[in-house]
Amino acid sequence: MSEPANWRDLVLALDDRRLDALARAAAATVEGLRWPHDTPRSALSPAALRELVRADAVCPEDGRDLDEVLRDFATTVWHHGVVASDAACVAHLHPPTLVPAVATELAIAATNQSMDSWDQAPAATEVELHLMGWLAGLIGFGPAASGVMTSGGTASNVLGVTLARSAAAAQSGADVLKEGLPSHATDWRILCSDQAHFSIQRAAAQLGLGRDAVVGVATSAAGSLDLGALDEAIERLAREGRRVVLLVATAGTTDLGAIDPLAQVAARARRLGCWLHVDAAVAGAFLLADSLRGRLAGIELADSVTIDFHKLWWQPFNASALVVRDEATFDLLRVRSDYLDRGDELEGMVNLVGRSLDTSRRFDAAKVVVSLRTLGRRNLAEMIEHLVALAAHAGEVIDAEQSLSLLARPTAVTCVFDAPGASADDLREVQQRLLARGELVLGRTQIKGRAALKFTFMNPLATTGDVDALVRVVLDELAAVRASN
Ligand SMILES: Cc1ncc(COP(=O)(O)O)c(C=O)c1O
Repeated sequence: MSEPANWRDLVLALDDRRLDALARAAAATVEGLRWPHDTPRSALSPAALRELVRADAVCPEDGRDLDEVLRDFATTVWHHGVVASDAACVAHLHPPTLVPAVATELAIAATNQSMDSWDQAPAATEVELHLMGWLAGLIGFGPAASGVMTSGGTASNVLGVTLARSAAAAQSGADVLKEGLPSHATDWRILCSDQAHFSIQRAAAQLGLGRDAVVGVATSAAGSLDLGALDEAIERLAREGRRVVLLVATAGTTDLGAIDPLAQVAARARRLGCWLHVDAAVAGAFLLADSLRGRLAGIELADSVTIDFHKLWWQPFNASALVVRDEATFDLLRVRSDYLDRGDELEGMVNLVGRSLDTSRRFDAAKVVVSLRTLGRRNLAEMIEHLVALAAHAGEVIDAEQSLSLLARPTAVTCVFDAPGASADDLREVQQRLLARGELVLGRTQIKGRAALKFTFMNPLATTGDVDALVRVVLDELAAVRASN
């Protein structure tokens, strides 16, 4: 039996003794990551997993030896997760991560800088601002632009919609932070495509505008916003006396990877005098690749842009950014506090709390910067281009299969398909049986009411041979499901 843990050894002071203990624990943790299965997840059922996890008390009366706890945690938890780096883990925008990012996660946690105030994060504040300035430049924004790291695409979109709402209120002379929504806000509308991420609706719901304030505009078969439909919606809303306060364009929809016509949507936003938010959570990384950047032409005309580093930039969760064309717009968010955002700091001491919906906040910019410096743009571009090519290859293979049918030709990293003659229940069974056996973590969605299966390619180590094998697995399972029904 090991000695009970002593808290004095475990508080992470940055001294030799504790750092040596951390290095040993990190090495033991890495050992525990060695995957004991040949599938992207173990085949344990939900009930078996619950029993396994609950067999160990959350907080025993006396602590245990760290090595032992880590070893047990590996065999009960890490070994029953999903392996995002497995070529058969293709359900979601769920990437494998980068060695420099994961190594930096350790330092982020060990040093625990907090991004709300300069006195909790001196160099870290400068790093985040440096990263935001670079990202703003990549988007094509001018020198007034900046941004803030958030916990994800949802949080970035909510922040973008929040700024748009406050800007709309300010335009009509209302101080929404102080007084709440003005009475005429019931007429405010947000326009986005019917393929926009649900976080736009969620933002409208949370901000008191209501989900019904979000008007979904029809999309093409490929999933991008139809400009004719947008114009009709704008005219209809004007006739009804509604005010469009925000246009949202998506650069890379969740399912089809479609990119809305950004420049044309921007022209409408300018004409309406409203905010333009571009949700580039998925395809923002295309800005890194010469062959793909052109598809995002017009993104530089946005007022705010969501970029998700924890998607096609291979960062561990959480890592996202909301970048704004004009840093001063963050003032629309500001609620001052006497202990943090005092406004009387020494020259150059910036408290980032003023631009975030969070107060205490992780130094996630660190892992992004270390990763970008280590890989460089060219490597990242190659990785992204490879995934786009894999999705295109999947599209060709599926197109050539009589028993499968593409919903749209892949243009980004997803490939969405169904099977002629197969019901939605058949497709559900295919996905669920493969997941239950742990063999293939496959996506399942609906496009305009049509049930479909989905591959999402996030692993740059995957090959066309892997893709061919995935299609084979789906075909075999489909045949088995059909034979059993
Ligand atoms: C287009 C788009 N925007 C936003 C999000 C939300 O991102 P997150 O899961 O990081 O909150 C997603 C998630 O898949 C997405 O596909």
